Amino acid sequence: MLVGGMMLGFRVRQVVSISFLVLWVIVVISGLPLFLGPKGVGSGEVLIWGLSKNDWRFIHTYCGFAAVAVSVIHIALNWRCLINYFKRTLK
Ligand code: HEM
Repeated sequence: MLVGGMMLGFRVRQVVSISFLVLWVIVVISGLPLFLGPKGVGSGEVLIWGLSKNDWRFIHTYCGFAAVAVSVIHIALNWRCLINYFKRTLK
């Protein structure tokens, strides 16, 4: 497929789509202990589901930024498909 004048193999789209799904699942799951766990001074050391709250914070924050970056690439790679979808639905 031709994107921005560049040939991109099916492989790249597959890797990006799978990363998109996996990263968002991790972000949502790691958001749960942050939401449900204790807050305030010392709460970073509290163990939730086998990891400290600080570990969950680390996972959530870095996977969060990676998920946003991959989402932008995912949308760019499927841009034409997306536009066609909206053209068809909004007719
Ligand atoms: C569906 C998606 C998401 C859910 C459900 C979610 C949920 C949460 C929750 C519950 C907290 C804890 C808030 C608190 O302090 O009480 C949190 C913190 C945070 N989230 Fe997310 N989040 C999501 C997406 C993201 C994304 C995409 C990013 C990054 C681009 C991100 C970055 C952060 C950061 C930096 C914190 C603060 C962590 C800390 O305490 O050091 N989150 N999130």
